[in-house]
Amino acid sequence: MKIFVTGGAGYIGSHMVKLLGKMGHEVIVYDNLSTGHQELVSYGKLVVGDLADKEFLKDILAHFRAEAIIHFAASIVVSESVAEPLLYYRNNVSNTLNLLEVVKELGIPYFIFSSSAAVYGIPEEVPVKETTPLKPINPYGYTKVVDEKMLEDMTFAYPHFHYVALRYFNVAGADPEGKTGQISKNPTHLILRALKAAKGELEGLEIYGTDYPTPDGTCIRDFIHVMDLAETHLLALEYLIQGGKSGVFNCGYGQGYSVREVVEMVKQVTGKNFPVSEAPRRPGDPPVLVADNSKIVQTFNWHPQFNDLEFIIKTAWEWEKRH
Ligand code: UFG
Repeated sequence: MKIFVTGGAGYIGSHMVKLLGKMGHEVIVYDNLSTGHQELVSYGKLVVGDLADKEFLKDILAHFRAEAIIHFAASIVVSESVAEPLLYYRNNVSNTLNLLEVVKELGIPYFIFSSSAAVYGIPEEVPVKETTPLKPINPYGYTKVVDEKMLEDMTFAYPHFHYVALRYFNVAGADPEGKTGQISKNPTHLILRALKAAKGELEGLEIYGTDYPTPDGTCIRDFIHVMDLAETHLLALEYLIQGGKSGVFNCGYGQGYSVREVVEMVKQVTGKNFPVSEAPRRPGDPPVLVADNSKIVQTFNWHPQFNDLEFIIKTAWEWEKRH
């Protein structure tokens, strides 16, 4: 298939592109390289462009005759979204709107969207189901809710348009073959920060909050390996092509690890005993965020390959050591 991947030079997008290459699809990556990296694009053609430039975007999409879009390009840092909300509405809503207008004008039938567990805010029930009420607690989460709503509304108005929105839980790890991984100048994510501490690039790691109502007092998250996540996009596309109903799906393993457990595993995998200190809670962190993944498992017949925290951290460490 001819597949157009926005944000394909980014962390998750570049893993997707590698997988699409393996499957023999024809790929254009569209990325403005604001946070993406050219060298992570291991397959397909990279077009450096901005989703804000609608004419250019339409031109590229029309010439390519894209049959499906996988839309990763977005701003993703929760704290930044609180400080710069309009930037987030611009990048995540306005630019997605541009893309969807072009999709509609060209009649492109299939759309896979990167959503986030951030749409749930502090969820009322855990494991979190797709039907759990959406109550985002920061602008980032709100932008993803608006995007999901645009997609849903399109399916009522345009019967030939089909989408899947994948709500990612905590994505981590790197390509086991070492071709791509995460590059971040100012990482905020737990595993990456712990690995930077192990490498000596950070003086140590702070645990944000040790008084949560969890067994060891630290937050619990559902970590999914980025390659398993990439695969869910392919399964979603196949599902739509076979006539599956548009909708939203949680992407997680349904199993949680505490911050302390993750830190211990990072120490074990890296063999480095970096300093760890206890710090106050980070505002807006839900105590427990674990997916009910029964919808994706049953609907897509999903068999994740890398549901193993040690393996997730090992692959991320291998990548981190080389970059
Ligand atoms: N944490 C620390 N120390 C650090 C970094 C993180 O203790 O140096 C803790 C956080 O407080 C949190 C946990 O580790 O309890 C996980 O934090 P991350 O920043 O790695 O990930 P989040 O769970 O905050 O974020 C993820 C996605 C977001 C999404 C959010 C939904 O990365 O895109 O889940 O709540 F919005």
